Amino acid sequence: MVIEEMVEKENSLITTELIPLNVKGREFGTLMSVYQKALEQVLETFNLLKGSLSEFYGYDVISHISHRIKTPQSIVAKMKKKHYELNYNNLIQKINDIAGIRIICQFKNDVETIKKIIRRIPNVKVLKEKDYLKHPKKSGYSAYHMIIETPVEFHDQILPVKVEIQIRTMAMDFWSSAEHKIRYKTNSKLSFIDSKKLSWYAKLLNFLDNKIMKIYQKQMEN
Ligand code: GTP
Ligand code: MG
Repeated sequence: MVIEEMVEKENSLITTELIPLNVKGREFGTLMSVYQKALEQVLETFNLLKGSLSEFYGYDVISHISHRIKTPQSIVAKMKKKHYELNYNNLIQKINDIAGIRIICQFKNDVETIKKIIRRIPNVKVLKEKDYLKHPKKSGYSAYHMIIETPVEFHDQILPVKVEIQIRTMAMDFWSSAEHKIRYKTNSKLSFIDSKKLSWYAKLLNFLDNKIMKIYQKQMEN
């Protein structure tokens, strides 16, 4: 693992030895800046792609792109939830969504177009893909997920850094951001019946996504 080599440069940084995670420490800040750089690099590529897709297809295939770096609190919360010991090694190897990008597109077919392009971007290595379009989650959640790795220059080294990419239509994004707020940002637990309703509404939105895409395709053929 190349990140281990950061140690030699930074001395106290990440090693194969299990250095306890200290979110207030200098090492943590340095590590986050590496993720930040990875995020910026990939974003630059995606913004260029957004422009060229709009030009080529004559509409905004990519409607918008959002991004975030996971907060130290949610990194720690996730590691605890997954019962990982709180050390840098586990953080680098097991937490894939420290840097995250969301690509929101117009039509369901656009998800396919975008994922195929991502697979071909130089300097982007796809490590893992999950198709929640074909197989939505029980909650109703639908999106296409990719974990990619991109090389980042750090001092005079090149480090492979992971970035999570979620590709969704506007309808999927509407549902998932609303569901997230309802489920996690409210105080009381969601009732069984309301969970069922949300799952059903996701299916309804998927139905509409398909129907609207078909009308667009029909128009394009004329
Ligand atoms: P985790 O990131 O630990 O959940 O790992 P995982 O391998 O289970 O990841 P997965 O690809 O299934 O989902 C990761 C991300 O997808 C989450 O951080 C959310 O952003 C999104 N997601 C997954 N399931 C749901 C869901 O039911 N509702 C909403 N709103 N978002 C979801
Ligand atoms: Mg996540």
